[in-house]
Amino acid sequence: MGQQLGSNTENWQELEKKLFMQTAKRLPVTLVHGQGARVWDIEGKEYLDFVAGWAVNSLGHCHPAVVKALTEQANTLIQASNQFYTIPQIQLAKLLVNNSCLNRAFFCNSGAEANEGAIKLARRYGKLHLDGAYEVITTYESFHGRTLAMVAATGQDKFQEPYTPLPNGFINVEYDNIGAIKAATTTQTCAVILEPIQGEGGVNIPDSNYLKEIRAWCDQKGILLILDEIQTGIGRTGTLFAYEQVDVEPDIMTLAKGLGSGVPIGAFLAKQRASVFAPGEHGSTFGGNPLACAASLATLQFVIGNDIPGKVKHLGQYFTSGLEKLKQKFNFIDEIRGCGLLLALGFTTDIAEEITLACLEKGLLVNRVKPNALRFMPPLIITEKDIDEALGILEKILSRRL
Ligand SMILES: Cc1ncc(COP(=O)(O)O)c(C=O)c1O
Repeated sequence: MGQQLGSNTENWQELEKKLFMQTAKRLPVTLVHGQGARVWDIEGKEYLDFVAGWAVNSLGHCHPAVVKALTEQANTLIQASNQFYTIPQIQLAKLLVNNSCLNRAFFCNSGAEANEGAIKLARRYGKLHLDGAYEVITTYESFHGRTLAMVAATGQDKFQEPYTPLPNGFINVEYDNIGAIKAATTTQTCAVILEPIQGEGGVNIPDSNYLKEIRAWCDQKGILLILDEIQTGIGRTGTLFAYEQVDVEPDIMTLAKGLGSGVPIGAFLAKQRASVFAPGEHGSTFGGNPLACAASLATLQFVIGNDIPGKVKHLGQYFTSGLEKLKQKFNFIDEIRGCGLLLALGFTTDIAEEITLACLEKGLLVNRVKPNALRFMPPLIITEKDIDEALGILEKILSRRL
């Protein structure tokens, strides 16, 4: 063996600084273990996790159903190429199709890859049915991933500017403004892609008619509506998919994050008429991998079988009423945004970083989604007691600013 690896917090963090491209702004904590809604660092300190790997650990850390499925599948078949049929991916597709308005699935490994695939599908549709139309309308403050095309789709200057010139064919317009989408639509437009609630953009909920109006516009123009449910899907907002709450059916939907409860997997699903790929036109080595699909299948079965979306709806209301009490007490809280267990607390000034660090110190993980906003996206299996604990920590920290 070569050089000895560090065994305490300081060494791991120093090693990371030497070895990694410094892209991640990490908090000074080395996590080594997780169970349910709790994680522990290398020094044994416990944290209540209201970040959940960025809305990924839907069933919490190391959920027994997921661990069992992974263990059994790891002992059976881990990987096989998509040249062959494998059973977990077919079972997963069946469950997704039976529980959504979509008819066909493609599995991949991340959110960005799911969106890339969805855009390729829309372009293919444009080539076949819309005289070669290829442009996709997207919104400001969106987040669709880090590949070059998804950076072009993501309407945020800070992600785009370092990489210009970007792939063409993406038109970014204002969110929650149907007029902006109409004005940007041309004969070259093949699709609109957007998040039903913008997650990374700060937990922004559009007007209740927005998605309905976009749906009607897409139908009128014969173009496709792609909903990016990578953050909102799999029960996070109180229904299995967020589109159910606005009664709008997408032509294509993308998923990742909570789909595997921590195991990397992405997917895009399409209605029959939009499912236009021919053999060989899209593919992935690991996409639909039996191990990832077994974890995802166990997650989805648990989510559906235990009415997790219904519980999330209740817990979201419970959490929101607790946040409302904080808002009444602290005049520097100006807004509570979100739905289900995707919530944000907006401040009148840029104090989110300071609050995040103070929470960390007190054993609560939260996310600074904007300089003036905290985001909460805990595992979907948290309890009212966990919420009370988080609210108690927040209240103590916010009280210091009175
Ligand atoms: C709505 C949305 N789309 C896409 C992505 C990208 O997913 P990934 O990081 O898995 O590529 C994210 C990640 O935060 C997201 O929130």
